[in-house]
Amino acid sequence: MKDASPQTIYLTDYTPPTYLVDQVDLTFRLSPNATRVISRIAFRPNPDAVSKRFFLHGEELTPISSSIDGAPVTPREVEGGIEVDVPDAPFVWEAEVEIAPAANTALEGLYMSNGMYCTQCEAEGFRKITWYPDRPDVMAPFKVRIEGDEPVMLSNGNPTGSGDGWTEWTDPWPKPAYLFALVAGDLVAREDSFTTMSGKHVDLKLWVRPGDEGKTAFGMEALKKSMKWDEDVYGREYDLDIFQIVAVSDFNMGAMENKGLNIFNTSAVLCSPETSTDANFERIEAIIAHEYFHNWTGNRITCRDWFQLSLKEGLTVFRDQSFSADMRSPSVCRISDVLSLRGRQFREDNGPLAHQVQPDSFVEINNFYTSTIYEKGAEVIRMLKTLVGDEGYKKALDLYFDRHDGQACTIDDWLTVFQDATGRDLGQFKRWYKQAGTPRLRVSEDWNDGTYQLTFTQTTPPTPGQEVKEPFVIPIAVGLIGPNGDEVVGTQVLEMTEGTQTFTFEGLAAKPVPSILRGFSAPVILERETSAQERAFLLANDTDEFNRWEAGRSLAKEVLTALITGKEAPQAIYFDALASVLREDHTDPDFRALALAIPSADDMAQTLFDSGVTPDPDVIHDATETLKQSRAEYFQDMLPRLLSEMTVTEPFAPTHEQAGKRALGHGILQMLTRLDGSKAAQALFDRADNMTLSLGALACLLNAGKADAALATFRDKWQDDALVMDKWFMLQVAHADPDKAAETVTRLTQDPAFTMKNPNRFRSVFGAFAGHPAGFHQKDGSGYRLLADWLIKLDPINPQITARMSGAFETWKRYDGDRQSLIADQLDRILATPGLSRDTTEMISRIRGA
Ligand code: PHE
Ligand code: ZN
Repeated sequence: MKDASPQTIYLTDYTPPTYLVDQVDLTFRLSPNATRVISRIAFRPNPDAVSKRFFLHGEELTPISSSIDGAPVTPREVEGGIEVDVPDAPFVWEAEVEIAPAANTALEGLYMSNGMYCTQCEAEGFRKITWYPDRPDVMAPFKVRIEGDEPVMLSNGNPTGSGDGWTEWTDPWPKPAYLFALVAGDLVAREDSFTTMSGKHVDLKLWVRPGDEGKTAFGMEALKKSMKWDEDVYGREYDLDIFQIVAVSDFNMGAMENKGLNIFNTSAVLCSPETSTDANFERIEAIIAHEYFHNWTGNRITCRDWFQLSLKEGLTVFRDQSFSADMRSPSVCRISDVLSLRGRQFREDNGPLAHQVQPDSFVEINNFYTSTIYEKGAEVIRMLKTLVGDEGYKKALDLYFDRHDGQACTIDDWLTVFQDATGRDLGQFKRWYKQAGTPRLRVSEDWNDGTYQLTFTQTTPPTPGQEVKEPFVIPIAVGLIGPNGDEVVGTQVLEMTEGTQTFTFEGLAAKPVPSILRGFSAPVILERETSAQERAFLLANDTDEFNRWEAGRSLAKEVLTALITGKEAPQAIYFDALASVLREDHTDPDFRALALAIPSADDMAQTLFDSGVTPDPDVIHDATETLKQSRAEYFQDMLPRLLSEMTVTEPFAPTHEQAGKRALGHGILQMLTRLDGSKAAQALFDRADNMTLSLGALACLLNAGKADAALATFRDKWQDDALVMDKWFMLQVAHADPDKAAETVTRLTQDPAFTMKNPNRFRSVFGAFAGHPAGFHQKDGSGYRLLADWLIKLDPINPQITARMSGAFETWKRYDGDRQSLIADQLDRILATPGLSRDTTEMISRIRGA
């Protein structure tokens, strides 16, 4: 049913549901190969309906029986579900179906992971569980009875009954089916509690497989912090007696916000100092917050249809970013968020998969859980907040929760709330949702006798299906620095609304150096001709931490670009400016570590492409190596002292302070490894007592080509820990020599510990391969063939992961003709595979441009 003739769904075709649901009662009789699902659903005609057709979604269901108001009926099977003749009045639909969770390798619907039952229903997985109007604008209270011999059997809401071989759960809050969840298996809980702002007691449980209890402490703390933060900052209180999180080994995404029963990929919740890096801790804290915050932004107020996905995702990412900034360092968080926005969203927005934050159409909604919906969606809300101010934002959010609680809403509803709360017309602002592509912002300056002018011009390149773009409203945060390094004009937000616009600053004593787009106030590409000296000046003097970092970053790019294109590189300016930053004892080590990081090969490829140069991944790789080597030599004398200053002597804690020291220490160790025959890295590997240091040392040893012994030791020690073994796989690919990367991938896929059924394991190998441009883009096309072989193999097992991994090809138009034609061959080969899933077909066709 599912894969027959992919159909395009259009936003403009939206019509309200014909029947609404007052109550859902479900009974599950669990069995790995033949689970029975018995549903009893109270329907009533929707007064707003435009048709009378009664249609229920359903996929891969074996029908047992069905009835209406107690009388048996025989539904008509139609594309994607069933149709039944029903009364034009309230009625009760009852059905029994059979499903086979053990055979479900797509990990959507009810499936089994590591011996336990679990569900994933977003976006359209509930239709694989039973017949239902599986669309988010149908919201209903659910009561669920689970029968089986599993020791723990959970669903959404509050526990309202249990006995020998059964449990019952009641969720009083009406919800769409995509938020349904069920988990059953041999599980143990870390238990805790939270008292809400109005004094209500909430039980907290974090469920894991026996043996993983030692990895739950941090997640529980993160949950409590999130609950408190949402009360303090957004006034949002939790609304059930219990909140549960379950860790699952096989999961397509990071985590899922099912009402009262969040389901997490083990990689997004389980952690301990011995097994997890600082980056893991940071990510876990953010994801726990993200899923918890969905309780209000996503669950209590949900989406009318999937074109509104960014309504919940953009907002919830914005909320989790703000939370992380409050828990850690705002400027370091901002820099990391922008790095990932540029690395993933700009990449998407400047290639064949570019799409609007609110798309007009899709074939498979699973393909739209993208960086554009999530990260650009969050940037759009950040800009909105900048434009209306903190007060305006708070008023608007209060009105949003007040007006729309319990509803399924649209992005238009969201913007209307802002208009009503602040009186501001957001007609032009809405273009951020409806026009794809990353705007280019060109700046020129003019100085005349105390008057300084900045002139901006915005242009947005065409994207698939959108040739011409109208100007955006762009909040441009600007500050001016005087020649002596003092700030002469503090941060102001310029509101650009035209294609070209000039802003004037009067009464200045001397020509200033501008600091433009402070805090990355808009998701645009700033184009400004400037000198290496001026960048070095801003790296030394800018009072805006983000722009300080940005100045160093663009200086590094300038040097690398020169090395790549065989021009004279301003290396000394860069090294001297960076050395001063590294020596700043008073500056956050984490900031210094970010300043030290060299732009990635993918970033450089896009940068070159944007400036009209065809990137060659081999050349980028070699130039980067050259730069790293000469930088290490230049910094030689300061390395030992810095390294010892970054040594943490207190017991491990995943705090920002400690993590920053370890991050900078790692940057220094990387340089030292190029000079000392990897002695320091080996010593660190031998004595490291936490995963951050041990993995960092291992990476250095791999770079030095001296990791054989360490890899074997590491494997011996961690072979029973899947999450650590993922790192073992990933690291070997990420640090392989370019001409050995494909070989390494092949060798690792033959390892007994490799399995393509586990998304984490598959991603650790192939995600790392796709993230290693010089290895993946080998001139003979071996990388492309290898990835295509595996995508073809994985597609029948797990289409979602296959479709997601095809994104490795999305940048193909940047490269030379030979590489393009080798890639085209592989894309065509994948597309020609008989029975290719709708997910992968859509992605590969969009990439191919067919
Ligand atoms: N809604 C989830 C989140 O953003 C992501 C997700 C989507 C998970 C689809 C599973 C399937 O947190
Ligand atoms: Zn989300």
